[in-house]
Amino acid sequence: MSNYGNQVQFEVYRTMTQPDPDRLPVSYEDWEAKAREVLEDGPFYYVAGGAGGEETMKDNHHSFTRWKIVPRVLKNVEDRDLSIELFGKKYETPLLQAPIGVQSIIHEGGELASAKASAALNIPYIASSASTKTMEEIAGVMGDAPKWFQLYWNKDPEVTASFVRRAETAGYDAIVVTLDTPMMAWREKDLKNVYLPFLIGEGVGNYFTDPVFRSRLASPPEEDPTQAVMHWTKTFGNPGLTWEHLLFLREHTDLPILLKGVLHPDDAKQALEYGVDGIIVSNHGGRQVDGAMSSLKALPPIVEAVGNELPVLMDGGIRRGADVIKALSLGAEAVLVGRPCMYGLAVAGEQGVHEVLRNLLADTDITMALSGCSSVSELNRSVLLEDR
Ligand code: FNR
Repeated sequence: MSNYGNQVQFEVYRTMTQPDPDRLPVSYEDWEAKAREVLEDGPFYYVAGGAGGEETMKDNHHSFTRWKIVPRVLKNVEDRDLSIELFGKKYETPLLQAPIGVQSIIHEGGELASAKASAALNIPYIASSASTKTMEEIAGVMGDAPKWFQLYWNKDPEVTASFVRRAETAGYDAIVVTLDTPMMAWREKDLKNVYLPFLIGEGVGNYFTDPVFRSRLASPPEEDPTQAVMHWTKTFGNPGLTWEHLLFLREHTDLPILLKGVLHPDDAKQALEYGVDGIIVSNHGGRQVDGAMSSLKALPPIVEAVGNELPVLMDGGIRRGADVIKALSLGAEAVLVGRPCMYGLAVAGEQGVHEVLRNLLADTDITMALSGCSSVSELNRSVLLEDR
């Protein structure tokens, strides 16, 4: 992956005399605008919207602008290495695709298109519990490429255990437990559009095929989808969860367990005590607690609290290479890419997601080099200045 950014740039510029008139967007803003053109109000705002007045969603972005990169010169950055190590395994890049459910509302290729794009670039794909395609179908199109499974903890413990078992069998490498969604937040755009895709049978693929979930129904989902959706609504979220429940999960899997949705350093310390393997600092892209602090602001205190003992990852507002460099310099081991991939998916399916990730990787590589660093391990606080 040495000099990746320059190679991607060259691929673009060499078409200068005959640029493709249908070429895909480059900037995040253009991808979003194009996605707006192709999606109906319901699906578009399901992706683009946040909770409440969307303060946290905006703040996720603004926090990045408060940090400035201070480039160093004359450092020989000819050969670069973007690889990282997590849980004893080498990953080629510090990027992962964030878990995002119901991708069938964005593009007919849905999760399979996104997963294939990830696999082609060796960027781990985190399959959501709330995917429309099942975790087995997703793993099936990814071959040996790295993949993690995101767990929404069902109220029915046997369904939760079944999901984890299935993920292990399907070859997932880690379990990401999302803790910030024990219930759906107050999302003004979705309420205005009267849009919740699960109610029309999207995003329930893992549930409707699950033997335990099915055993709870009077008749199978194929015969009575309404009843199956109703059962799903009653069991999807679990506001009764406590730290002790993590012991149940540990009993059911040997895979690394990461907690997603942590913002307080004390919760990160607690995670360490409960034998968790990693933390993902996240506010769900501003889709859960409006007014919650931005992910980037939450990152340094959490790294300080547990960073020597646990890998800390983050998401929320990663749009460009500079965002990746800033997050890694503040101590994140890796970052998750969310909405950019979904706009790529909306506009051009698998090719769109591939292009979004490829460009982000190229931009990251070039920005790292121009900052005076040759590898991810060189990125630390000394690269940055806080612009108060
Ligand atoms: C999400 N996110 C999410 N997270 C999760 O753990 N499970 C899920 O099923 C979903 N679903 C989902 C749907 C949509 C449409 C979005 C936009 C987000 C949150 C996601 O993993 C990630 O935390 C955010 O997307 C990060 O914010 P940005 O960078 O995308 O703004």
